[in-house]
Amino acid sequence: MKVAIVGATGETGSSVVKGLLESTDPKYEITALTRPASLQKPGVLQLAAKGVTVVAADLEGPEEELVKLLAGIDVVISTVDAYAFMAQIPLANAAETAGVKRFIPCFFATVTPPTGILTLRDQKEVVLNHIKKIHLPYTIIDVGWWFQLTLPRLASGRIDYALIMPGNIIAGDGDVATALTDIRDIGRYVARIISDPRTVNAMVFSYTELLSQNQVFQLLEKLSGETIDRTNMSKDAIEAGIAEAESGDPSNPLTYAKIAQFQYLNSRYIRGDNTPEYARYLGYKDAKELYPDLTGNSLESYCQEVLDGTAKGVYDRKRAEAAAVSRSS
Ligand SMILES: NC(=O)c1ccc[n+]([C@@H]2O[C@H](COP(=O)([O-])OP(=O)(O)OC[C@H]3O[C@@H](n4cnc5c(N)ncnc54)[C@H](OP(=O)(O)O)[C@@H]3O)[C@@H](O)[C@H]2O)c1
Repeated sequence: MKVAIVGATGETGSSVVKGLLESTDPKYEITALTRPASLQKPGVLQLAAKGVTVVAADLEGPEEELVKLLAGIDVVISTVDAYAFMAQIPLANAAETAGVKRFIPCFFATVTPPTGILTLRDQKEVVLNHIKKIHLPYTIIDVGWWFQLTLPRLASGRIDYALIMPGNIIAGDGDVATALTDIRDIGRYVARIISDPRTVNAMVFSYTELLSQNQVFQLLEKLSGETIDRTNMSKDAIEAGIAEAESGDPSNPLTYAKIAQFQYLNSRYIRGDNTPEYARYLGYKDAKELYPDLTGNSLESYCQEVLDGTAKGVYDRKRAEAAAVSRSS
């Protein structure tokens, strides 16, 4: 099966590429559609060394060029970041013209209602609505919240190396369960979902564990032997945080990040959107029911890895690129 992926060097994209390369049934041939400016980046060169075909693609360039690149491709997967969400619309048009059998737009996040709760989700739904308008076969894959963004900071600082967004805020009473997944398992889930005829024109929720914040904190306290500092934040304070952030300039990346942070706290831990029950209500299929043999890494085992000093944080590449840009300016 021939798969083209946009965003192959990203956090989600790297997991997807690994999962597809490791799949034996079916076997996948992968083409990474890469923006021309990134062709010489180390991550892109590493993809080629792993057997991925790398081609230059400008999502906002002439559509006929994208159509040529997608000729003979069975599945297109997008794992781009928020800045490129709208560029998926010309990509979807090109996929439809090229006869691509299935388009996987960039979702890969938590379960939320289609609009009105999470700005990021609102933007993804605009893309999905366009896909539906042009009758392009699709699959939506949501994965819950990454383990890699879930852990709070320990006072000793010994797990700081693996944390990018320490989650020491307990939202509400901390007892609302949310679905969690090790980012490294996303690709294995995707490899099953995209070759399954039952998931065409459907939404699939593929997560590993369902835990509340209190359970996550207690687990890490047990494994580390440390008492974790908690900052409590009430529903009212989170709602006020959303209102204040939304009054800022949304084109400012810091404002955008703040909006997302408060909206996510509200969705995951106050509203309790990110659960299998709510996913079922919204019409998702549950990957645990579709593939009962498919299991993911446990949060306990991930915590142990972090405590042992062998885990890898996320966004190291992005941080290194941003640091290089600031050094050169
Ligand atoms: N479930 C969770 O907990 C969670 C957490 C974070 C994010 N997410 C979701 O995961 C999805 C992907 O985000 P991510 O954080 O994994 O992405 P990321 O690491 O920021 O990577 C973005 C990728 O998109 C590529 N890209 C960006 N603009 C492009 C363009 N114009 N043309 C072609 N390629 C372009 C980048 O390529 P270059 O190599 O050219 O830079 C990179 O490969 C999003 O939907 C996000 O909401 C979920």
